[in-house]
Amino acid sequence: MKKIKKIGVLTSGGDAPGMNAAIRAVVRSAIANGVEVVGIMRGYSGLIDKEVKPLAIRDVSNIINKGGTFLYTDRCPEMLTEEGKQKAIATCRELGIDGLVVIGGDGTFRGATELTLRGVPCVGIPGTIDNDVSSTDNTIGYYTAMNTVIELVDKLRDTCESHARCNVVEVMGRDAGDIALNTAIASGATAVAIPEFEFDEERLFEKIATSRKLGKRNFIVIISEGLGADYAPTLATKIESKTGVETKFARFAHIVRGGTPTLKDRLLATQMGSYAVDMLLAGKSNIVICERNGEIVEGDITYALKLDRMYKGKLLEGELDEYSPEVIEGMRRECAERRVAMQKLYDIQMKINL
Ligand code: F6P
Repeated sequence: MKKIKKIGVLTSGGDAPGMNAAIRAVVRSAIANGVEVVGIMRGYSGLIDKEVKPLAIRDVSNIINKGGTFLYTDRCPEMLTEEGKQKAIATCRELGIDGLVVIGGDGTFRGATELTLRGVPCVGIPGTIDNDVSSTDNTIGYYTAMNTVIELVDKLRDTCESHARCNVVEVMGRDAGDIALNTAIASGATAVAIPEFEFDEERLFEKIATSRKLGKRNFIVIISEGLGADYAPTLATKIESKTGVETKFARFAHIVRGGTPTLKDRLLATQMGSYAVDMLLAGKSNIVICERNGEIVEGDITYALKLDRMYKGKLLEGELDEYSPEVIEGMRRECAERRVAMQKLYDIQMKINL
């Protein structure tokens, strides 16, 4: 096993609050182990373009509380090409980078696998507000984004109550309804629509109309962006015409991706950053750091990506051929458990939020 003397760290894909805290933990854990660190700017784009800077202990001071990522980020189509991957590898070779910690979502992890296969060991840290990495209970940034959503919804509720209005709110999350569902519960929304479950619009219209007759003035309906860009604004129009309740539409979009990370995200980022360095130094690669039942553990990135695709019903023909029936059964169980946990939350919201 080659001794790791220098590692690189990058953030890629959509930024997420807590990414800076993760970078800080990576830098300081590595230095504590006598390992040099370089920060790679703009995700894989910076690796391809050789845009890097050495990071010392003080270079990551005063960033634990900052949203965004001070290394910047990018979605990098060039990493999908063999030429791009070779350029990234060439940078590592030239600069003596023995391993990489990559912070991001599934696209970032696919890049990590490609680089690992080409000889540069990579460890991934899940940093995305979407919480759509199935192998971890929580991703960095998810809790901060949700706290921002409920803060904003609380404000909307004030004005809805004053004007006796409904507000339909669309929140990010890509194909995952986690942000929408959890924030709907936590903000006492009247209803939530997410890609994972059927949504009964007629039932919503009836609920709003009946509650209005009984004196309820404000209504909040949270929609996951995974239902498509037209869904939420169209629903707002329908609510108004079917119930007579004046209805506004708000798309929170990127606003929930910024801001000061919460304690949960700073802590998770710090634990994961430190663990990622331990993994690289222990000679592991193609590893994703996960939080499961409150513990930080590692998993195989390839397995994690396939688990994601299984959960989303997007597995390709033959993708599981390398796994034994027991492993496949375990994956199915993990997906089922995640779905059951979501169903339980969904049922609670249907019961409680009137
Ligand atoms: O993955 C994070 C995320 O914010 C998603 O929730 C959203 O669909 C997407 O990124 C938006 O991407 P962009 O910042 O490129 O518009």
